[in-house]
Amino acid sequence: MLDDILSFDSLPSTNATAYDLAQQGAPHGRVVWAKYQSEGKGRLGKKWISPPGKGLYFSIILRPDLSLDEYPKLTLTAGLAVAEVLENTCKVEVGLKWPNDVYISGKKCCGILAEANLSEVDTEPFAVIGIGINVLSERQDFPEDLQETATSLFIETNTLYSMEELLEKLCRQVLDLVKEHEKLGFACILKRWKKRDFLYGRTLEWVSGSGEIIRGKSLGPDDTGQMLVRDNAGKIHEVLSGDISLANKKGIINE
Ligand code: BTN
Repeated sequence: MLDDILSFDSLPSTNATAYDLAQQGAPHGRVVWAKYQSEGKGRLGKKWISPPGKGLYFSIILRPDLSLDEYPKLTLTAGLAVAEVLENTCKVEVGLKWPNDVYISGKKCCGILAEANLSEVDTEPFAVIGIGINVLSERQDFPEDLQETATSLFIETNTLYSMEELLEKLCRQVLDLVKEHEKLGFACILKRWKKRDFLYGRTLEWVSGSGEIIRGKSLGPDDTGQMLVRDNAGKIHEVLSGDISLANKKGIINE
């Protein structure tokens, strides 16, 4: 397994390197791991702060035996893999926030950034699943604005984990679940994902594709992996993109 892990002391972004390698033909299952990222990428153009010695930052190249319309579901498959490894290894309860955040005790511990080359014509399709986990961070290691909303495995369990051991378990589980997704279909992944759905039944607010602000209760992801929300008038919306906020009576909590 370790043979398939390319390890670097520092990279701008493991997703960027993995994407380049995939374009050059790197195989399914190749992993790019960096101990530090100078330009770690988050979703929606955000940064993923990646200090050395505090977190795991890695990307897995996937060339799954799946039709292209299954690719968007891979984010959820990867999130479930992370949840199952953290539950077994750290004995914590894990929540999954659609589409790709991993929560412990109501705080974000891990983010997943999935990228694919589906719009590039005449190339073999691939996906890059980038995973960032706060492993050994202490509260003061997070930027001030994240100290209330972020957590780490160390904060939650007071345990020092081996990055290498965690990395191996995570890569193996992601690849095993992708195999399960290929062989048995997405339904069995989705069933386990839904058991950990952090947003289910909560009131959300988001900006629709047309720029309209919509408020409603989360119904969780449907069979295609898209999130469904019922607004106050009973209309069901599919959340296609954009950031979701949790709404409460005092206002909006942006996460
Ligand atoms: C998010 O929650 O916004 C997603 C964060 C994803 C961060 C990981 S760290 C490893 C990989 N390389 C990157 O540049 N980003 C992802």
